[in-house]
Amino acid sequence: MTNLTDEAGVRTAPLFSALDDADASSLRSSMVEIRINRGDTLFKEGDEGDRLYVVVEGKLKLGTSSTDGRENLLSILGPGEMFGELSLFDPGPRTATATAVTDTRLLALSHDQVIGLVTRSPQVALQLLERLAQRLRRTNEVLADLVFSDVPGRVAKALMDLGSRFGVQQDDGLHVNHELTQEELAQLVGASRETVNKALADFASRGWVRLEPRAVVVLDFERLSKRGR
Ligand code: CMP
Repeated sequence: MTNLTDEAGVRTAPLFSALDDADASSLRSSMVEIRINRGDTLFKEGDEGDRLYVVVEGKLKLGTSSTDGRENLLSILGPGEMFGELSLFDPGPRTATATAVTDTRLLALSHDQVIGLVTRSPQVALQLLERLAQRLRRTNEVLADLVFSDVPGRVAKALMDLGSRFGVQQDDGLHVNHELTQEELAQLVGASRETVNKALADFASRGWVRLEPRAVVVLDFERLSKRGR
C-alpha cells in the first residue's frame, strides 16, 4: 500500500482530508499516478473531461486563451491542490488548459469514482464544496483587483499569494521559487510583460524584493503586502 506520509501534500487535498488513514490509503491505491514533464500539456480548454486530479509534486498552470491567441493564467497549483472538477459537477468541456510548469506528479480519479465517493461521504462532499467556495472567493477578489487595483498592486498581491503557498523562509528573506517566466507572471496579473517588469524593477530598487530567474526573494514582507492591499 502506498505510504501517504511520503505525499504529505496529498493528505490536505479535499478528497482526502475528511477520510481516516485507512480510507485515505484505500482511495490513494485506487488512483492512477501520472507524471508529466515541464512544459507538457495535460489537457486543453474545450477537451472532454473525465478525471479529477490532485497534485502530488511539482507545479501546474491553469490558463485560458482568447481567440486572437492572448493568454490569461487563472491559477498556479502546487502539492495538495485539486483541479478538473468543474467539468464533473457542471458537465461540459474543460474550462482551462493545464500545463506543467515543472516536472509534475499527479493522482487521477475518474469522475465516476468521485461521484461514488461524494455520495458515500457527506464529509468529502463538504470538503469539496469548501474548496469550490474558496476558489469562488479568490476569483471574486481577482476580478475586483482587475477593476480597482493598479498593476504594481496586482503584482505585489500575486507575489504574496505565491509566497504564502510556495515560499521558504531563509535568513535573508522569503524565497519564492514560483518557476514562472516574466511573461507568465504578466499573464497571471492580467497586464503586459513590460508593465509587470517595471513594477518588479521598482520593488527591487526599493529593496522589497530580489529578482532571480523564475524566482523572487521577498526582503520586505510588510511593505510588499501593504502595496498589494
Ligand atoms: P475543468 O473545467 O474540468 O478543467 C479545468 C480546471 O481548471 C477546472 O475544472 C478547475 O478545476 C480549474 N479552474 C477553472 N477556473 C479556475 C479558477 N478561476 N481558479 C482556479 N482553478 C480554476
